[in-house]
Amino acid sequence: MHEKVGTLPVVRSVADLRRAVAQWRHAGEVIALVPTMGALHTGHLALLARAKELADRVVVSIFVNPTQFGPNEDFTRYPRDEAGDAAKLAAGKCDLLYAPDAAAMYPPGFTTSISVGPLAEPLDGRFRPGHFAGVATVVTKLLLQARPDIACFGEKDYQQLQIIRRLVRDLDIDARIDGVPTVREPDGLALSSRNAYLAPEERRIAPALQRTLQAVRSKIVAGGVPREVTAWGIAELGRAGFAKVDYLDAVDAETLAPLLVLDRPGRLLAAAWLGKTRLIDNIELAPGTGP
Ligand code: PAJ
Repeated sequence: MHEKVGTLPVVRSVADLRRAVAQWRHAGEVIALVPTMGALHTGHLALLARAKELADRVVVSIFVNPTQFGPNEDFTRYPRDEAGDAAKLAAGKCDLLYAPDAAAMYPPGFTTSISVGPLAEPLDGRFRPGHFAGVATVVTKLLLQARPDIACFGEKDYQQLQIIRRLVRDLDIDARIDGVPTVREPDGLALSSRNAYLAPEERRIAPALQRTLQAVRSKIVAGGVPREVTAWGIAELGRAGFAKVDYLDAVDAETLAPLLVLDRPGRLLAAAWLGKTRLIDNIELAPGTGP
């Protein structure tokens, strides 16, 4: 018998997860996995809804992965609410919650780490050393533990999505990776578990991140030199009230290498601080959409 949180079945060990998934697979059902760190919001639920469209059964994992947080980051204060999350997942018709604890994920003696290479170096890779190795390792484990046909990830974390696409190809992991568009507040702020940290004044400033990315995109599409326009965008974020901007870069949409001219699909990505809270966002940058 499964443990339940509210009405939602939950498993906490790899063995129990594999047993549940094996039954579905035996019945010929298509299985999707949605990895999360909990504190679920409408963005996560959009991934669940997409997974339900693509698959017969959806497993959502909740695991606040310690290895992807830096020593001075927010691992200990990261919001945790398993009962609240389970109620949202049950309402979204999730079939199973996989909620391992850290000791099950990283038993004593664990030493392996997945290094993804160049995709993990720029952007967040420069400002969060070790972050993407932590993400790549835990996502690889989750994919091997659940062995889903499909796994859904948000474009909100665009560099993460590209890294996961790469590692799945490179390691011959037999799962289709589905990227889901970013869900936003009405004022444009991308939904994030970290938005809960924002003080009212910071919350008022936050939508400037998305607005500035759009303004930068318009100027580049109108013929502006990407490097000059992104420098303008960084200054603009400062004027809007962001304390510090880690980066605002125009990159190739696939390789994440700097995009010097808009001659192929690109992406604009930014990370900036409001007080102690670091926000990230990104938008598509398509050539041939100018005036
Ligand atoms: P977490 O931040 O909880 O996000 C889980 C998934 O939800 C990710 O794929 C993320 O891109 C997606 N997501 C978050 N906010 C979103 C939004 N506003 N719109 C659409 N999708 C959104 O990302 C992680 O956890 C972790 O790194 C994880 C992949 C689980 C590995 O630990």
